[in-house]
Amino acid sequence: MGDNGYNVAVVGATGAVGNLMIQVLEERAFPVKEIKLLASARSLGRTLVFRGKAFPVQELKEDSFEGLHLALFSAGGSVSRKFAPLAAARGCIVIDNSSAFRMEPAIPLIVPEVNADAVTVEPGIIANPNCSTIQMVVALKPIHDAARIKRIVVTTFQAVSGTGKRAIEELRQQVTSTVRGEAMVREVYPHQIAFNCFPHIGAFLENGFSEEEMKMVNETRKIFGAPEMAVCATTVRVPVYYGHSESVNIETARPISVEEVRELLARAPGVQVVDDPPKGRYPIPIEVAGKDDTFVGRIRKDPSVRNGLAMWVVADNIRKGAATNAVQIAELLLARGLI
Ligand code: A2P
Repeated sequence: MGDNGYNVAVVGATGAVGNLMIQVLEERAFPVKEIKLLASARSLGRTLVFRGKAFPVQELKEDSFEGLHLALFSAGGSVSRKFAPLAAARGCIVIDNSSAFRMEPAIPLIVPEVNADAVTVEPGIIANPNCSTIQMVVALKPIHDAARIKRIVVTTFQAVSGTGKRAIEELRQQVTSTVRGEAMVREVYPHQIAFNCFPHIGAFLENGFSEEEMKMVNETRKIFGAPEMAVCATTVRVPVYYGHSESVNIETARPISVEEVRELLARAPGVQVVDDPPKGRYPIPIEVAGKDDTFVGRIRKDPSVRNGLAMWVVADNIRKGAATNAVQIAELLLARGLI
């Protein structure tokens, strides 16, 4: 490392996730020597604050990565496909929040609480999983270790911030125009999102599932190293700003009691159990937004199958689902002496 830390770039620094990456690097006191904030030419002239100091946003270019140790990417798949290999070729390790490289066999797909041992800097790119996948595997890891999960059926309730800052603005505008009785702007989503929900995240594939649903299936299997695990996902966009919720049903190979699951989860890293339904205590996005942990509640037996369990899992999708997990991967690299 340099004398006082590492030279770090954030690609997509002006976006919802990129901006939070800057904040999380600061919050977690990652040893940054120099920070470089990259976005498109549209953002030239803007400044962003890191550790109380304003830094100019620079245009992402092929030579942006000279002299950098680490780059956190969150500017979409096409930007990653073009620029992440360029950065890696210059010796700058990339932690990529897009889906561009996640399923490539040589690229590690990492959630530090779940599969830290799979991390390697050999290919120069490390993929950050899909937001819905991350929170689900964090919650399920201790159960999988104890009783081996054979099948997962999950339905998600996903916040608009996962789509980016234009989607956050679209929900805000639609809520305002509904209240004022004005015409509604609809640019980002296929349907009105205010006071509505739709099971449509990403394009639909030939098998009838959406891209987001297949990300949950394929990434979960890769992270658990369990290609035989059966996963069926339905992903739904809901009018929530921050925080994805998930209804998760699992079937385990070995029996495990609800009490055991609660105990395992209570001491699992990155997990908090909030589970007292009669008192109205279970995780909700409004309370989870702004936090880094994954919250689990409504843990109960699913009597419809042998060894079945049902639960409710909520996390801040742009924190643990994106920016925080990316910075935790960077911390893992540090801890293992890989940068
Ligand atoms: P910009 O603000 O200059 O458009 P979000 O996911 O919130 O929509 O943010 C996307 C991020 O990715 C923004 O920082 C955006 O920068 C950045 N971005 C999008 N396209 C490009 C590109 N072609 N080159 C560099 N950055 C890009």
